[in-house]
This record gives sequence, C-alpha cells and structure tokens, in this order.
Amino acid sequence: MSSNRRPETMERITTPALAEAFIEEQLAALKAQIGSKKVLLALSGGVDSSVVAALLIKAVGSQLTCVHVNHGLLRKGEPEQVVEVFRNQMNANLVYVDAIDRFLDKLAGVADPEQKRKIIGAEFIRVFEEEARKLEGIEFLAQGTIYPDILESGPVKAHHNVGGLPDDLQFELVEPIKLLFKDEVRVVGKALGLPDNMVYRQPFPGPGLGVRCVGAITRDRLEAVRESDAILREEFAKNGLEGKVWQYFTVVPDFKSTGVRDGVRSYDWPVVLRAVNTRDAMTATVEDVPFALLQKITQRIVTEVKGVNRVLYDLTPKPTGTIEWE
Ligand code: XMP
Repeated sequence: MSSNRRPETMERITTPALAEAFIEEQLAALKAQIGSKKVLLALSGGVDSSVVAALLIKAVGSQLTCVHVNHGLLRKGEPEQVVEVFRNQMNANLVYVDAIDRFLDKLAGVADPEQKRKIIGAEFIRVFEEEARKLEGIEFLAQGTIYPDILESGPVKAHHNVGGLPDDLQFELVEPIKLLFKDEVRVVGKALGLPDNMVYRQPFPGPGLGVRCVGAITRDRLEAVRESDAILREEFAKNGLEGKVWQYFTVVPDFKSTGVRDGVRSYDWPVVLRAVNTRDAMTATVEDVPFALLQKITQRIVTEVKGVNRVLYDLTPKPTGTIEWE
C-alpha cells in the first residue's frame, strides 16, 4: 500500500498541465493495482468521489461499479445529475439506489442531532453493504479520501469512507486522491472534464439536508429546506456570489409563526438563510449579501415554497454560532 504522507517534494497541482501529469500517473497506478479485477465505489456526487469515479472510469472502465445511494437528504437535482454525468455521459456502471423511504422512516421522530447523524451514517453503510453483496467478485473498494481527511485537520467527512463494513466484506482500498488538497482535487476534476457545478461545489455535510431540517425530520419540512436551498443557490449564481461565498444554505427550524396571506391568517415555518466565509471551517464570518438580493430571495421563497411565511438572515459568525444549525 502506498504511503499516507505527502512527500515534501510533491508540487502543488495548480495548472491543467500539472493535473494532466497527475492523471496520467494515477491511471498507470490504478491499472497496476487493479489489473483485471473489479472495484466498487460509493459515489455521492461530491467533488471527491466524482473525481475518483472519473479516474477509475478512464483507468478500468467497466470493471468499476459505482453505487449512488439517494438517502432523500440530497439537494435538488443532485441525484439526477449523478445519473446524467456518470451513467449517461461517461458510460459508467452505476447502481442508483432509491433509499429515501428507508432513511426517512428510520429518522422519523428523531430530534437529537447526533442521533440523526448516527442513523444516517449507519443506514448508509447498511444500504451500501446490501448492494455490495449483490455484486460478484469485487476485490477493491475505492474511496474519495483526501489529504485533510488523513491529517484530520478541519471537518472530517464521515460519509467519505465506507469503513464499518462487516468483517466478511473487506476489500483492498483504492484511494487515488488521498495526497491531494481540496483545491488540487478541483483542478484535477476540471481536467477530467467534470461539469463546473460539480467541480466547484461548496462543501456539503455527509448528513446532507438532514441537519438543516432542524429537530425531527418531516417530509414536508424537508421539501421546504430543499426548495428554499434551490432558490438561494439559483439567486446566488445569477448574482455572481456562487464562486465567491464559501458555503450558503437554508435551514428550516421546527417551529411556526403567524403570518398573513391573501388576507387570511397563516401559521407556517420560517426559512433561515446562512451564507458564510471561512478558510478552515473552524471560524467563519457572515457574507455581506446586498439587501436588495436578500429581499428578492425572501420574496421568491415565501411565494414559491409551500408552508413558509417568513425568511430570516442569520447574522451570526462562528463563534458563537456553528456554520450548520445542528
Ligand atoms: P460546523 O457546523 O461545525 O461545520 O461549524 C463546519 C463544516 O463542517 C460541515 N459539517 C459536516 N460535514 N458531516 C460532514 O460531512 C457532518 O456531520 C457535518 N457537520 C458539519 C459543515 O457543513 C461545515 O462546512
């Protein structure tokens, strides 16, 4: 197994030419490691697992099987994009698992944030394990581990590795980007021809929208999170904030307030907007979003998102607030 330490002489991958050289080197290494055997990858659609998938498709083609687990907590359009890019455009063997009901049923009534995370993580492994058992002759498990995951500085993405599989289901690991930093992964992803909205995607937590639907998740409130998030992203993109702001999303708390619509009293949820900038996610500052844009987003959300009558902007830096609400 190759070293987990980045050599001091390793040049930072900042240009397409350096990315091409890295890709060539990795393709040769992947072919040598995997030979004619089969490899499995949990493909979330995030930049890391997407880059690993694109590398493996080039290196070993149909020997790769990607499993995309839709746990119902992904952003609007994400599962569809994974299918479109990897199955339709890149011709990958992609197993798409609709596990939405399974996850939401397990999460029903669970309000504690850590408990929610545990359920999502454990259920993910269970679904992945079931899919792995259906496949014959898999010897390798590919993972989108990156260097910060190894260093454990900054937020470690729990969904990133499928560690926790039972003893009778152990594979040799394939981790082609484990010595890369995030910015390098993006340069490599771009060179591999992945779409910009996949390559330059903002960080997205493993438990997904589950931690933005505060308290016990209900399907209708989860839809309000997903739809309001889509509006926020669309407006940020239209107004040039997409690549500028580090992370932005919406949260729907589990309480209601009164409002009025068409002269009739309403009792609906608020949507909280959050947009922050940071270097390492340990501290964060709030983006100074133009007031007119906040008003536009508010107008769209209260008009287009069912069950919402108010929009708030979270002005809290980290500390004292964390970036996510739970
Ligand atoms: P907080 O909320 O702790 O978040 O200020 C810092 C960064 O970590 C992300 N985050 C997570 N990522 N699993 C993840 O993979 C999680 O459970 C999780 N919780 C927070 C958060 O989105 C932010 O980028």
